[in-house]
Amino acid sequence: MIPDLSEAEYDTLKAAIREAGRVLVPVVVTTDGEVIDGQGRVRAAAELGIKDYPREVINGLDAEAGHLMRLSLNSVRRHLSAEQKREVVRAALRSMPHLSNSYLGEKVGVSDKTVAAAREGLESTSEIPTLTEFRGKDGKTRPRHLMARTPREQREATDALVRLGDDAPTRLMTAREAVRKAKRVGAAVACATRPVAEVPPDTLAQVHHCDFRKMPVEPGSVRLIYTDPLYHRQHLPLYSDLAEWASKVLQPGGLLVTYLGTSFLPEVMRRLDGRLRYVWTCATLFNGQKTSVFGPKIRCGWKPLLVYCNGNFEPTDWMGDVIAAPVVKRNHVYEQPEGEAEFFIRRLTGEGELVLDPFCGSGTTAAVCKRLNRRCVTTDIDPAAVATARERVARTRVGDPLVRPKRTLAPMPSEPGDFDPVDESLTCLPA
Ligand SMILES: C[S@@+](CC[C@H](N)C(=O)[O-])C[C@H]1O[C@@H](n2cnc3c(N)ncnc32)[C@H](O)[C@@H]1O
Repeated sequence: MIPDLSEAEYDTLKAAIREAGRVLVPVVVTTDGEVIDGQGRVRAAAELGIKDYPREVINGLDAEAGHLMRLSLNSVRRHLSAEQKREVVRAALRSMPHLSNSYLGEKVGVSDKTVAAAREGLESTSEIPTLTEFRGKDGKTRPRHLMARTPREQREATDALVRLGDDAPTRLMTAREAVRKAKRVGAAVACATRPVAEVPPDTLAQVHHCDFRKMPVEPGSVRLIYTDPLYHRQHLPLYSDLAEWASKVLQPGGLLVTYLGTSFLPEVMRRLDGRLRYVWTCATLFNGQKTSVFGPKIRCGWKPLLVYCNGNFEPTDWMGDVIAAPVVKRNHVYEQPEGEAEFFIRRLTGEGELVLDPFCGSGTTAAVCKRLNRRCVTTDIDPAAVATARERVARTRVGDPLVRPKRTLAPMPSEPGDFDPVDESLTCLPA
């Protein structure tokens, strides 16, 4: 499926193996001895008389998993031309037409649009069947079609399906529902083109532009990580890396407080357990509003925040575990209310202590830390989010009060003395 190495590429590889006197990169083989990755290394080793070389034996791969693994290993490692990649896509579609465009695109290292174009070509010549549903990376099957009533809805539906990729609905939806979903899922990506603003660094709250695993932080220096990663299934591995990274940067007894999608609560806990110690699950209420979770048919009115500790948790005071702050989406599609950040940061840290947010978004954690005179280091991979957060931090002053949104959706009971007098927008429900 992947074109063989050119003679020049093969000669370079063989020369490198001859010079090293051994094969450095393991050859990947199945338990049946089929080479998944490294045909060139096997051939060069044979020609150079090298019998022993490292082999990585993969157990229990069925034919499809083997194909996919070969695709991704080879196409990311090899410099294929655009036409070679298109040919790889066509070959993959011939053997696995039932897989979704975005899944195959991810494996080959091309966009789902490239796969869609190749699929259209192969369908038009009947080289592959025209299927009515596709299987995504998550194993779920999604319909190819949406219900559209007018040509305009049809255009919008097509656009929504392309933008959603594997986030597309698993049931037949109307065009309008899909467009709404595409807006929600895609908005963060759509605004990622703005350049990072040149705002002078802030002494209390630093906003970096890098992956959180590369954020400059001294080990054992952090009192609290307050954060809000992406929630979709494909982002779950982030929680494992977050746990490992948190266990290094947190002080003994330091806390991680993280938002997550309720559907993935057990999976996220599995990923955090082991590195950190579970303390509690807090709830933030949607102010009387409900979101519909289609799988289990739940009208959901709350969201969890998990609290984990690096070592033993030694609380100094009592704390509520149900909060309700009005939703504000002024700066970012996934923006969380400052009131919720304030609730935790006030209680779990002292002035001058260090708070991290590895998934900055619009900088809610950083802005709250600055208002409360806590040090904050945060980062995001999205330049637009970094720009927004830097501007937000720059216009925030130490001691600024929490700004109360103009309209709240439901009356909220309060815990007396919990907040500043101006802070009526944030409440902790009485026990
Ligand atoms: C849910 S949003 C955070 C929203 C934020 N709580 C707010 O109030 O605006 C998650 C952010 O994490 C960022 N992100 C995703 N993967 C990342 C990574 N590996 N390192 C740093 N940031 C990442 C995304 O770009 C996105 O802006």
